[in-house]
Amino acid sequence: PRPGWSVDADVVVVGSGVAGLTVALRCAAAGAHVTVVTKALLDDGSTRWAQGGIAAALGEGDTPEQHLDDTLVAGAGLCDDEAVRTLVTEGPDAVRRLIATGAQFDTDAGTGAILLTREGGHHRRRIAHAGGDATGAEISRALVEAVRAAGIETIEHALVLDLLKDAEGRAAGVTLHVMGEGERDGVGAVRARAVVLATGGMGQVFSATTNPAVSTGDGVALALRAGAEVSDLEFVQFHPTVLWLGPDAEGQQPLVSEAVRGEGAHLVDAGGHRFMVGAHELAELAPRDIVAKGIMRRMQELGAQHMYLDARHFGAEMWEHRFPTILAACRAHGIDPVTEPIPVAPAAHYASGGVRTDLTGRSTLPGLYACGEVACTGVHGANRLASNSLLEGLVFAERIAADVTEALREPGAPPQPAATATGTVLAGPKARLEIQRIMTEGAGVLRSRESLERAAAELARIDEDAAAALEAPGTESWEATNLLLVARVLVAAALRREETRGCHWREDAPDRDDAWRRHLLVTLRPDRTL
Ligand code: SIN
Repeated sequence: PRPGWSVDADVVVVGSGVAGLTVALRCAAAGAHVTVVTKALLDDGSTRWAQGGIAAALGEGDTPEQHLDDTLVAGAGLCDDEAVRTLVTEGPDAVRRLIATGAQFDTDAGTGAILLTREGGHHRRRIAHAGGDATGAEISRALVEAVRAAGIETIEHALVLDLLKDAEGRAAGVTLHVMGEGERDGVGAVRARAVVLATGGMGQVFSATTNPAVSTGDGVALALRAGAEVSDLEFVQFHPTVLWLGPDAEGQQPLVSEAVRGEGAHLVDAGGHRFMVGAHELAELAPRDIVAKGIMRRMQELGAQHMYLDARHFGAEMWEHRFPTILAACRAHGIDPVTEPIPVAPAAHYASGGVRTDLTGRSTLPGLYACGEVACTGVHGANRLASNSLLEGLVFAERIAADVTEALREPGAPPQPAATATGTVLAGPKARLEIQRIMTEGAGVLRSRESLERAAAELARIDEDAAAALEAPGTESWEATNLLLVARVLVAAALRREETRGCHWREDAPDRDDAWRRHLLVTLRPDRTL
């Protein structure tokens, strides 16, 4: 679609979680004219839902080196060592700057020291939290307030469509579908010398996910259509302990943070047996992929639909003080964790892969950056370590801001977009539910060649139907289109990786195979084949 209006900026940031707002704040502080565009409201993305916290070597006796070791073990041989070293070394100061920006973490009433909890895969207490289990909400509040105080231009209800490029093929802005009223209604464009994607994840590609409804893979889909490289999409992390609301539960499901296990909760089956004890030296606090697999195996053995998380021994006072959000969510669904074990099962949680970037957040396409869950910086490998995601957003946002503002010092002509990336064929809104069913059945926690080939064939059929239907543009059809594209790439990558590693679990190739200790890089051909 042709833009009906356009505005100019130095930098356009797409997305408003920890990554996007930190890039925006740091670029604006360096004097750049920043425009933030976001699909819903500024605080409607995934950051707000983060519970457990943000990992960094802040505690006495902890070091970036120990954080590095735990991150590399969780990543199952596929982390980029240099990226992880950057993350863990720059992390503690980045958290301190976040605090200086206004985020208030839980502290010891006596000493004022930041309180730290444990989560899966961490050998020590390393996770700073806020409001007990409402860390993301506090970070989001602080960053939104800071962005407003800095007077940064924001456009809400703006779904990003495609990348604008100049005649040399450099990113020159984005087109948007704005669901507002007045002069910025309909399709418009922000022209800019740098484009930062911070659009979050793609959890909505599965039926049950901890991700909010807005997590539809928009940034990865845009990058693919624009010709940028994406990587590691097969590594979808399933969070082990998501409140189980029945076999047909769809959409965003309540998370029960790893921090609940970090504070001593037990995973048990219906008979009260602690099945993770003996399965791994860290038992319930093993890396997330191992706990998710442990739960799935026990469910299979018993023919059960869920397991239980038992934290009755915390008592009412600790539940109310330390985990108020989770307590309220459980009670809202008729479960009282103070008196009964919580039914839990794994659900889609985090995309470890995404738009391939270097250590300054640059994608393979000049002028296009990616930050946070949408990016694949190499820090997560085959399985992200708990609470490293907020940290990644923060650390790489600062690096991107430094790179962008340095580049802006060079005199440059205002962006002259020559064309949008593609003429995209849109899928119908109804495709969303179908894609979610196909992906859950074929490419979920357990995968096999057979299940993945079936999923690939069904997705191809939806794609063909879309080409025939000439769907009208709209938010729902764009979201379905993005979900379809990322689902196709995810399934293709999962089919190709014939091994089990991290959170990619192939029943027909159950062992880790070091011939596969490499990344699968994908670009979309002009004819939209992979
Ligand atoms: C949690 O609180 O369990 C989520 C932490 C994360 O995904 O890193």
